[in-house]
Amino acid sequence: MRKLLVTGGAGFIGSHTCAALTDAGFSVVIIDDLSNSSADSICRIKEITGVEPFFYKADIRDRETLDRIFSEHSIDAVIHFAGLKSVAESVAEPMKYYRNNVFGTMQLIDAMENAGCKKLVFSSSATVYGDMNTPPYTEDMRVGAVNPYGQTKLMIEQMLMDLCESDTEWSVAALRYFNPVGAHKSGLLGEAPFGTPSNLVPCIADTLMGKQEYLSVYGNDYETADGTAIRDYIHIMDLAEGHIAALREYNDKYTGFRAFNLGTGCGSSVLEVIREYERASGMKIPIVFKPRRQGDAAVSYADASRAENELHWKANLGLSEMCLDSWRYVSQSNV
Ligand code: UD1
Repeated sequence: MRKLLVTGGAGFIGSHTCAALTDAGFSVVIIDDLSNSSADSICRIKEITGVEPFFYKADIRDRETLDRIFSEHSIDAVIHFAGLKSVAESVAEPMKYYRNNVFGTMQLIDAMENAGCKKLVFSSSATVYGDMNTPPYTEDMRVGAVNPYGQTKLMIEQMLMDLCESDTEWSVAALRYFNPVGAHKSGLLGEAPFGTPSNLVPCIADTLMGKQEYLSVYGNDYETADGTAIRDYIHIMDLAEGHIAALREYNDKYTGFRAFNLGTGCGSSVLEVIREYERASGMKIPIVFKPRRQGDAAVSYADASRAENELHWKANLGLSEMCLDSWRYVSQSNV
């Protein structure tokens, strides 16, 4: 059985991917410091799949633990999710982001090289398309960052490109996620951010659960059909499957660095998401229109054809499944 190391495997994207990997027959070793997730998700992975992943509670900057993991397990490839992801926090505390995301990845790469493991799937983001491109975004467009969080993703991608240039044994797939939402269909795993959420679907959930009085809709004067901003929302289980496709169709077959967009290729407006979530929950979501949020693009969606052509992967689930599955998790677990 192939063994994978998953950094940040207890988080939202990590835990769903670990469940999908286990179901697909991979053995999973998780390293996570639980700074923005809980050990509950590890128990849930076991409940869903019947298999308990190996788990190390540690920061990826802790080189000793990384070396111990590689000596205790024969790791075939690494999926690297661990990192901080709040745009606002990254503006307030940039060094925290460079230390965690960039230095953390450097420590991981060193430990992988030391162990002779040179296959990596990196959790990147559509944020690398910055504000100078017109959607749909294609992987060969110019990249740029508009905040320190985005800058860390770009710096890591660049570092991994240079690494692959210097050593042709490395195989790195950088997956540029669009907007992952939804939950596992069991209702056991979902998105449970610590503190006050800032992403749209967790804010909708908080509003329905009475934790927010209303949902702020940031901007209704965009040049879109209903005036609200458009994003490419992708079901978390489709996203999870994208990692398995990357491992099998890219890392197992090719060396070098390659970026892939993981999105549906379709955009939905904020009001469309709200309407779909109201249908899923059977409840009315109180909204208040507010000015545009600083740094928000009007429209963002993927050209997902590279992943379809090269990884033979495409998103299958629509906005209605995303909202139904999210609501099942939120209403069952009362997070
Ligand atoms: C945000 C980050 C992005 C990051 C991604 C994943 C910003 C500017 N961008 O993307 O860099 O990679 O999260 O964590 O922070 N909205 C509301 N009301 C809310 C919340 C959101 O109207 O309460 C709107 C936003 O203005 C936006 C859309 O919903 O138009 C989606 O927002 P969000 O879920 O935060 O995702 P992004 O902004 O695409």
